[in-house]
Amino acid sequence: MSYNNIISQQNNGIVTITINRPNKLNALNKETIEELHDAFDVANKDQNTKVIIVTGSGEKAFVAGADISEFADFNVKQGSKLAKKGQKILFDFVENLSTPVIAAVNGFALGGGLELAMACHFRVASNNAKLGLPEVSLGVIPGYGGTQRLPQLIGKGRAMELIMTAGMIDANQALNYGLVNHVTTQEELLPFCEKIATKISRNSSVAISSAIKAINANFKDGVNGFDIEIQEFGNCFGTDDFEEGTTAFLEKRKAEFPGR
Ligand code: COA
Repeated sequence: MSYNNIISQQNNGIVTITINRPNKLNALNKETIEELHDAFDVANKDQNTKVIIVTGSGEKAFVAGADISEFADFNVKQGSKLAKKGQKILFDFVENLSTPVIAAVNGFALGGGLELAMACHFRVASNNAKLGLPEVSLGVIPGYGGTQRLPQLIGKGRAMELIMTAGMIDANQALNYGLVNHVTTQEELLPFCEKIATKISRNSSVAISSAIKAINANFKDGVNGFDIEIQEFGNCFGTDDFEEGTTAFLEKRKAEFPGR
């Protein structure tokens, strides 16, 4: 698939997906969401991919939300369909990928932009970032998982306030809330994320994908995360990575994992 709204580049096992509609502050229109689905899917299926980084192009925005011009005249049925499809093909999809996904939040992360960042496995922001879910100022609520993931990440009271006020918090407040793990300068954002990605890529991809499943199980209704942990832990014992990791330790050398 060729892309009109995103750029996907691979370097040393790190795939960087850049949302590239800077004139619209990288707002997520239908086509961009479909292209992102494809790019994440392709990267995840590629055995060589160790980590995916997603960011926005330009100096101003990560993503300033879903594209308002596309849904302004939607009715109830179309609104529900928009949220359902988007959650399925992008937001839930990213959260449940077996490859680690880091959001490099390089500016405004509003509405669907913050929802995308929250669907990633963790977030790093540059010091100019502004984050919020301003949907109620448009007469709608977050529909791409924001009402669920924001309280999971920052607590119910803070999420209630941020959503009700339609406010924005800056990068340092986001750090203070635990919404992002680190704050960097704008120039350092991608190199910093790449450094973390390189650290991740030295470990067992197979074990990391098991860890993602077990951690995500903690947030799924009707699923016992402890049971999933036991199951995934047990599965690891049947992998080449486990054999290599434990053998390398006992032989006092660095493990060389064959990959996924
Ligand atoms: N959907 C569609 N277009 C958007 C957009 C969105 N979510 N966010 C920004 N844009 C477009 C603007 O319409 C403008 O396009 P134009 O130049 O063709 O008119 C362009 O991006 C630049 O945005 P602009 O508003 O001029 O920049 P600004 O610096 O004055 O303001 C924001 C920046 C982020 C505060 C402002 O763009 C904004 O409030 N965006 C919407 C945020 C939002 O409500 N997101 C949730 C959507 S559910």
